[in-house]
Amino acid sequence: MTKTNQMWGGRFDKAPTELMLEINSSLSVDKRLYRQDITGSIAHAKMLAKQGILSIDESQKIIDGLKIVLNEIEGNNFEFKQELEDIHMAIESRLKELIGDVGGKLHTARSRNDQVATDFKIFVREECQKDILLLKELRKQLKTKAKEHIKTIMPGFTHLQVAQPVSFGFYLHAYYEMFGRDIKRFENAFDVMDECPLGSAALAGTTFDADRFFTAKELGFKQPTKNAMDSVSDRDFVLEYLSIASICSMHISRLAEELVIFSSQPFSFVKIPQEYTSGSSIMPQKCNPDACELLRAKSGRVFGGLISFLTTMKGLPLAYSKDMQEDKECLFNVCDTLSLSLKVLSEIISGIEACPQNMLNALEKGFPTATDLADWLVKKANIPFRDAHHITGKIVKFAEQHNMRLMDVPLKEMQSVCPKITQDVYNVLNVEASMNARNSYGGTAPEQVKARLNED
Ligand code: ARG
Repeated sequence: MTKTNQMWGGRFDKAPTELMLEINSSLSVDKRLYRQDITGSIAHAKMLAKQGILSIDESQKIIDGLKIVLNEIEGNNFEFKQELEDIHMAIESRLKELIGDVGGKLHTARSRNDQVATDFKIFVREECQKDILLLKELRKQLKTKAKEHIKTIMPGFTHLQVAQPVSFGFYLHAYYEMFGRDIKRFENAFDVMDECPLGSAALAGTTFDADRFFTAKELGFKQPTKNAMDSVSDRDFVLEYLSIASICSMHISRLAEELVIFSSQPFSFVKIPQEYTSGSSIMPQKCNPDACELLRAKSGRVFGGLISFLTTMKGLPLAYSKDMQEDKECLFNVCDTLSLSLKVLSEIISGIEACPQNMLNALEKGFPTATDLADWLVKKANIPFRDAHHITGKIVKFAEQHNMRLMDVPLKEMQSVCPKITQDVYNVLNVEASMNARNSYGGTAPEQVKARLNED
């Protein structure tokens, strides 16, 4: 019996070494594509019969055999042999064991190059759809929480310094919007991935009268790809998924970081559900936000996947090169990381508790209505904004020196800085009035947040 590869060993005298098998084999990773591979092969076999390239009987034997292989794999009755290189060869080899030589006819009018591109594209499209559902669930949780808190006042920050009063609902709505854009990006990517590479063969098309429109339709694509060389060289769909996953992970990481900060004792704005924290083995008082920290950290491996595979693809000549086999490991890792992160974050958001008094205390320390005072000077005293800013700065300095809130500064003191100030300035200096006044479209006023949350 020959020791060379059964699938392509015809011209070989020597078998690959153990090390060659180790570096060349992708089976341990790409076995995850077994279902997509069998689905693709069944569509291909149907097409071969429809076109008269195989007889109906041959095609049916192949399809029945492929279904047996599927059952074997799903029933854990399949032996994955590393020497068979990848999932495509493993399935085909088992098919031949089951149905004999006719199994070898399945590979007519295709090559592993278009086969792997098709299987993987189907996989990535399915992942986009799964992530869209997970993102929808996360947005549902954010929306529910945001609605509960459209009047809960907290500090809005810039530079992590207290800036202006906003509501906790408004803050959560910011993330609701970010994750909404991620959904759109996945939907758009799904659309861009709507062309099927199957039938492109090795790189130049096939001499057989294949119907690529038929297989594209069977596999849920809108149409076949338009250039066979591009089809087998293209991994844009992988990179696009990794890019979107990176942006989405960046959003997750920012929210997780804020939850870490906001749940720490000096802030104490929120309580993270205890099931998502852990204790310390030495400090009994600790309740550490481990899950949020890990959500923050996991963005690293997602970005890593993108950079790693971009680097792999950069400079590859057309068409297929074995380098491209490296696409699966990083994508699978990113898919798993992203879906776990989205699930965990949804649960954390649904269980998060706000501590409004602490939010208010932190807010009051930061002179959050200084902008309202400056705006009042512009509107009521007809002072140019630049001057109003300067006057307000002086009043803030006084308040700071006397350890009081802006609304506690006596009118006399204010008038000594600017005689035009009158009693009704105090109407704009409390934080609730300040928040309610920001009623521009997309502003933090409760009316706005409620309307925007109800829009979708
Ligand atoms: N295991 C390979 C991959 O994942 C399949 C394609 C192999 N094609 C080839 N010409 N060797 O990329």
